[in-house]
Amino acid sequence: MSQSQIQWFPGHMTKALRMMQENISLVDLVVEILDARCPISTRNPEIQKLAQNKSRLVLLNKADLADINKNEEWESVFKAEGATCAVMSAKNPSCKKEILALIQEACKEKIERDKRKGIKNRPIRVMVTGIPNVGKSTVINLLAGRASAKTGNKPGVTKGKQWIKLSQNIELLDTPGVLWPRFDDALIGEHLALIGSVNDTLLNMDELAISFLKQMDSDYPGVVESRYGFTEEDLRSDVGMQEILCIEENKRYVAILRQIAFKRNALVKAGEPDVSKAAKLIIDDFRAARLGKISLESANKQ
Ligand code: G4P
Repeated sequence: MSQSQIQWFPGHMTKALRMMQENISLVDLVVEILDARCPISTRNPEIQKLAQNKSRLVLLNKADLADINKNEEWESVFKAEGATCAVMSAKNPSCKKEILALIQEACKEKIERDKRKGIKNRPIRVMVTGIPNVGKSTVINLLAGRASAKTGNKPGVTKGKQWIKLSQNIELLDTPGVLWPRFDDALIGEHLALIGSVNDTLLNMDELAISFLKQMDSDYPGVVESRYGFTEEDLRSDVGMQEILCIEENKRYVAILRQIAFKRNALVKAGEPDVSKAAKLIIDDFRAARLGKISLESANKQ
């Protein structure tokens, strides 16, 4: 994570926070969208404070890319926090109905309260929040049925509030609450980089791939080997490794990158693997779930 990027956020945070407070005060329900592959890293640190006294619906989005077992664990964690929570993929249009039902469920106390007070037909007002790239625009477009949510990746929301009627009693703020991600922890920065929430040009992809391979070794052993078709023996018998200078701890992962390059014919010249190309390749394969459904964070490790 580059220094310039870490320092970019604080200047914008106060403004974004003020705008979020202003907008949150207008709604009954905050829909918090997280990336199911790393809910902790994609969670804004302020959201719990911001959404205090509001009903909360946590959507673990991009579940089509994430580990099914871990999705279930995370769902339980957020439910235990008192939020309504569901695992979903906004790319699948059939989840629109489910989200509308969840909004009703999350607001059932408010609906009951209104009923008791004799208030009829007061709509539930909803705002969609999340850090960039978690799928806010996709969710809003799905719910609103039109391309209305393209706001660019700016924190806060734009002025001039518009409400979109989603059903007889649900209204959605048409601009999402774009929150900022956390950059206070190297591991969080890594996870955000791996899911593609950080501009790749700012990243050292070789280092990122090595961190990813370490995590794969511990959480999904054997998956990388079988995807690219190499064995432990291939790693041991790579004589070219003898000439590589790198810290001992990284040797295994450099050797893996070399095998990936050999297997994919990514060569700098005959017989010499292009490790950087292999690093990009494995990160792209992870992002597109070509390594299978992989989650970077486990609820039971928190
Ligand atoms: P944002 O408003 O929170 O910044 O996110 P946005 O909706 O723009 O979504 C960011 C990217 O994530 C988009 O891909 C979008 O299609 C994708 N996406 C959103 N929800 C899901 C999901 O549930 N599953 C998967 N697999 N992808 C999802 P993109 O490549 O930037 O755009 P596009 O090529 O899809 O248009």
